[in-house]
Amino acid sequence: MTQQASPLASRVGGRRAEGGRRQRSVDPAHTGDVVAEVLLAEPATFVDACRAARAAQAGWAATPAPVRGRVVKHLGRLVEENADALARLVTREIGKPLAEARGEVTEIVDTCDFFAGEGRRLYGQTVPSEMPDKQLFTFRQPVGVAAVVTAGNFPVAVPSWYLVPALLCGNAVVWKPAEYAPATAEALAQLCWHAGLPDGVLNLVQADGAATFDGLAAALEAGLVDKVGFTGSTEVGRRIGELCGRHLQVPCLELGGKNPLVVMPDAELDLAVEGALFSGFGTAGQRCTSLGTVIAHRAIHDEFLDRFAAAVERAVLGDPFRDVLYGPMIDQRFYDRFLGWLELVEPHHRVHGSTGTGRITAANPRKGFLGDPADGLYCHPTIVSGVTADDELFRRETFGPIVGVAACDSLEEAVALANGPGYGLSAAVYTRDPATAFRFRAGVGAGMVSINNSTSGAEAHLPFGGNGRSGNGSRQSGIWVLDQFTRWQALNWDYAGRLQKAQMDVADPTPDRDFRL
Ligand code: UN1
Repeated sequence: MTQQASPLASRVGGRRAEGGRRQRSVDPAHTGDVVAEVLLAEPATFVDACRAARAAQAGWAATPAPVRGRVVKHLGRLVEENADALARLVTREIGKPLAEARGEVTEIVDTCDFFAGEGRRLYGQTVPSEMPDKQLFTFRQPVGVAAVVTAGNFPVAVPSWYLVPALLCGNAVVWKPAEYAPATAEALAQLCWHAGLPDGVLNLVQADGAATFDGLAAALEAGLVDKVGFTGSTEVGRRIGELCGRHLQVPCLELGGKNPLVVMPDAELDLAVEGALFSGFGTAGQRCTSLGTVIAHRAIHDEFLDRFAAAVERAVLGDPFRDVLYGPMIDQRFYDRFLGWLELVEPHHRVHGSTGTGRITAANPRKGFLGDPADGLYCHPTIVSGVTADDELFRRETFGPIVGVAACDSLEEAVALANGPGYGLSAAVYTRDPATAFRFRAGVGAGMVSINNSTSGAEAHLPFGGNGRSGNGSRQSGIWVLDQFTRWQALNWDYAGRLQKAQMDVADPTPDRDFRL
């Protein structure tokens, strides 16, 4: 997409919403390149969008689920037809390497493929009644209006995890994407609208976090929102949880992580290094599933660290349109915050993996860098060894290319360290021993566990979500997300022609309790 003559804007009830603060979205790999300008809406626009969604929802819910599934199917095909343009836009706007951006676009298609079929299932149940001439059933009812607020590190895949099932289930949606990825958001929304959604069923609100929070508070107060979905920081997730709780709502929260990767003495070390490299430094460490701390058994700790440091030193960084491990930080704010995390490195730590730390520049160069580092927000990869459970670096999510390495002496200690920071999104263990793998799985508090694979790379049809500081137990993806976007309605249908009272009018066959063989 080229620079817009008129700025991008919110779209409410099928109409462009004018007004708001003008902001630029820049390419983080070429900070002089403006990808788009966007009008960031006021809270009132968010409320208007919820009202438009409320007005459109009943009609959409009355559309048969298989027909809604057709829209989802068309969306999947449209995304496939536009995959290259969408992936390139993702790379340009947030700096994710093109290969990863293509994977992200594939994740939307996978999600659509799964839910297109769900339109022909969306099963309820028939349940036997305790009385004759009575039938019991369950139905999945759409929740109503879903307000979805997403981050920009996965600017299209993660939104699709919400939008696709929410729409398939018969809800109307208000989507607030990250304000630093407005062009990508506009592109995904256009694909949704062109897939055949009626006006008002999906509304796009381009706004900053503060206006969104105020708008959401007002919309909840006005009774215009029935479900909130939020992917972002633990801190904001907590505020959203409090806000929703006041309205007796349980939001779907997908928050941060401090994801551990345990390497046991019997691990295939090169495989573990590969997994640590991809999950620690892919997307420049800006995934919620990114590796936080490697927990290496002391028996292989030094050997693992040597190999890991060598692999990171060798990795090619630079222009995200070329074949690189990672490109720039996704936005200035992530870059600024990352420099702050580097201050958590303490004197008892050792730093490995690059020729410097912090921003890559001509004066602080990175060997083999592809492109001109002065063009963008590029940071050195940093491995920090000697991390202990008492370190701030051990406890905090550090969104960026930094990985801690801690040592352990046993599986029990590894599990305790893995659970130590109190997050619970994703965890990995490298071992050849099934007993170790299953003991780790049972002991670790993460919602997602990998054995001999990295902490990243969830497939689109397995439950995705975390516990503790990573979320409130809600799960996205696959059949599990249906419980976020539908509510069970129980139906009892009595055709006895007289009142049959549950528990009271129930036959109870008389057993012979004294019977013995
Ligand atoms: C996220 O970081 O918010 O498992 C989602 C993965 C991706 C999704 C990450 N499929 O790394």
